[in-house]
Amino acid sequence: MAIGTMGEGGGYEIEGFEVPIMTAISEMVSADGKVGSEAVLSATGITVRFGGLTALSDVSVSIPPGSIVGLVGPNGAGKTTLFGVLSGLLKPNSGRVFLLGEDVTGASPQARARRGLARTFQQPELFNGLTVREHLVLAYRARHERARLWRDVFTAGCLRRPARAETERVESLLELLSLGEVADTLADVLPLGTSRLLEVGRALAASPSVVLLDEPLSGLDVHEAEQLANALQRTVREEHVSLLLVEHDIGTVLNISNHIYVLDFGLLIASGPPEEIREDPRVRSAYLGDEDVAVGRVDIGSHHGARSTSDPHNEAAAGQEPDVVEERST
Ligand SMILES: Nc1ncnc2c1ncn2[C@@H]1O[C@H](COP(=O)(O)OP(=O)(O)O)[C@@H](O)[C@H]1O
Ligand SMILES: [Mg+2]
Repeated sequence: MAIGTMGEGGGYEIEGFEVPIMTAISEMVSADGKVGSEAVLSATGITVRFGGLTALSDVSVSIPPGSIVGLVGPNGAGKTTLFGVLSGLLKPNSGRVFLLGEDVTGASPQARARRGLARTFQQPELFNGLTVREHLVLAYRARHERARLWRDVFTAGCLRRPARAETERVESLLELLSLGEVADTLADVLPLGTSRLLEVGRALAASPSVVLLDEPLSGLDVHEAEQLANALQRTVREEHVSLLLVEHDIGTVLNISNHIYVLDFGLLIASGPPEEIREDPRVRSAYLGDEDVAVGRVDIGSHHGARSTSDPHNEAAAGQEPDVVEERST
């Protein structure tokens, strides 16, 4: 069995892994909501410039505990850029990011992961030859038992006998995400919808305070999207975790989010509960020009292509490239 690379971001990287900090923080938040209404994750005044183009202009967002927050917008709106700033892959030109009340603007993705931030990838990065359950076991060990994980890696893939806490955690994730039936199935043969559920399970294995999901609904059929949406809602109820859904598909996000932010050309054009966002004329016109939006699975199309430096929204833009801390290899 080939373990392959250890992944990065919120996945399997274990460099500088410190159990006590992460555990302490996740308990602080999830036990009885002691952080109160204070945001789990927030960003204030974020500006990101790529040469002469302003990808984000003075954007502020806040993710309260135990909530689903949607971040939507047409192509080129700046969603992926904001995702990068929140996860630590991209340093903003200005603005600050706070995780559980701590300023993490300069912190690496790994340091943020240790402090309770997890993420999923748009293309699930699954290991060939490992079952669904084994993926969850490895994700759990990557966060809870560093020495044990390394032993597993170097003993040619013979996973050691699990501790009880590990078994309980893995079984509860299988149940939460309705993955029980495929627990012993090799992950590489899973349909896309099930792979996305497994990605969510891996992110949750470390009991994070907040999970950033990068277009979790893209490529799913209606049934798979509904299944995932239900699983995400159940997750928030049962895990005391917050989710940020970065999505192209505004329809499903409207259905399951407590709060929605809408970006357009790097500006936050609307922010509010779904009822307000549905009615917001700026959102309608951002998505479909002057046409009315029939709320549902709205296809936002691609009328917003890449912007040029001569774009009026970006004429004031000037400045150095932001620091790209780390890029995915794919
Ligand atoms: N690394 C980069 N270099 C230059 N321009 C970029 C880079 N990343 C994104 N952009 C530009 O920034 C704008 C916002 O992009 P992005 O955040 O990917 O939008 P979205 O995810 O909402 O589609 C787009 O105009 C895009 O072309
Ligand atoms: Mg994007």
